[in-house]
Amino acid sequence: MAIILDGKKIADEIRIEVKTAAAHLKTTTGLVPGLAFILVGENPASQSYVKSKGIACDDAGFHSVTERLPASASEADVLSLIDAFNRDVKIHGILVQLPLPAHIDEQRVIEAIDPSKDVDGFHPANIGRVMIGMDTFYPCTPAGILEILKRYDINPSGKHVVVVGRSNIVGKPIANMLVQKKEWCNAIVTIAHTAAKDLASFTRQADILIAAVGKPGMITADMVKPGAVVIDVGINRIADPSSKTGSRLVGDVDYEPVKAVAGAITPVPGGVGRTTIAMLLVNTLKAAVMSQR
Ligand code: GUN
Repeated sequence: MAIILDGKKIADEIRIEVKTAAAHLKTTTGLVPGLAFILVGENPASQSYVKSKGIACDDAGFHSVTERLPASASEADVLSLIDAFNRDVKIHGILVQLPLPAHIDEQRVIEAIDPSKDVDGFHPANIGRVMIGMDTFYPCTPAGILEILKRYDINPSGKHVVVVGRSNIVGKPIANMLVQKKEWCNAIVTIAHTAAKDLASFTRQADILIAAVGKPGMITADMVKPGAVVIDVGINRIADPSSKTGSRLVGDVDYEPVKAVAGAITPVPGGVGRTTIAMLLVNTLKAAVMSQR
């Protein structure tokens, strides 16, 4: 039976560390980290994520502002908000919640953010730094995964990590981070994705399996090597008539059967998602500190 990798516990630890560091920054320099959220449209998941991130900012003693635009907002409206936040000295981080409505070019929006305020780590300048092993704003979900591994003393060095999924937000950055010749990285990394004819032949090789595909329960027990560490990045809402709300959250991993095979596993909820928010605070604090230089 697998060890449960408690993302909530780790996120709480990180949030306390950030809060302590932010309080110290304020007393020594008067600086309060500031984070601006831009939320376009009414996507319920996005609204809920932005709300949770705002609460996390308040708890950490950060300043935060949320600008809400209707789904009909133009790309120019979003770009003009970004421009204002780029110039606002009280704002050290800018987060445009994705996905954006289809008529807005997501990449153009990401590239409009000043890379020194790109606390999501999505700007090509920052992603490029990840790829060549330079210090940067690491994208929050991959950074959270590394914190989970580190704080549970699971060292990826020399291990075969199989990442399922090749998104710009998770799959590509986590693979590039883990492959670096650095402490707590140095892994042999495979990126598998939808084009694999026999996905299980890849996943079964994994010492550490990272599922980031957005398909509920797609990683089944037969796809997991006994004793493997399983990191479930999926956050999928599925119908559940037995629950009060009529739905519940599940990951990309078929949790109970995989738990019986794996050596360690992150739950959903209470796993990677929690650490993502904590790492956003880490990045915002870093942006604030760097703004003084
Ligand atoms: N949508 C889903 N995950 C993320 C994230 O980490 N950052 C932003 N900005 N949007 C998201």
